[in-house]
Amino acid sequence: MIELKVNGVRRAYYGDPNMPLLWYLRDEIGLAGTKYGCGVGLCGACIVHVGDSARQSCLTTVADAAGQEVTTIEGLHPDGNHPVQRAWRQHDVPQCGFCQTGQIMQAAALLAENPNPSDEEIVEGMSGAVCRCGTYQRILAAVKTAAE
Ligand code: FES
Repeated sequence: MIELKVNGVRRAYYGDPNMPLLWYLRDEIGLAGTKYGCGVGLCGACIVHVGDSARQSCLTTVADAAGQEVTTIEGLHPDGNHPVQRAWRQHDVPQCGFCQTGQIMQAAALLAENPNPSDEEIVEGMSGAVCRCGTYQRILAAVKTAAE
């Protein structure tokens, strides 16, 4: 049995410990805000927080998250008003929107670690989250606004 917390709720998991955290979140406990993009660690659509770190949930197993606090887009802020989420709305960042939860979770982790990143640090810090619509200029602007 594996115990973990997801968005502040204690959970017990009795299944395969090697199940990707992404599938656990989406299929076992119904948190579909975390997206499946590539499944092999290349796109970042599946990024969640495990502890304070941004992690690709497709490459993280449930066992990797044992005893830890997992935060998904649903739990980032109770009202969807995390500074990054507010900045995302202000800059109207999404185009198709598929990658955006991963982008937001990556940005929130980046700013928690580095509250005043330079443009270069934002680009580097966000490089694991790919947007095929190419909204990178709006992402950069939104992360800068969220940092203010
Ligand atoms: Fe995990 Fe693409 S789905 S990195």
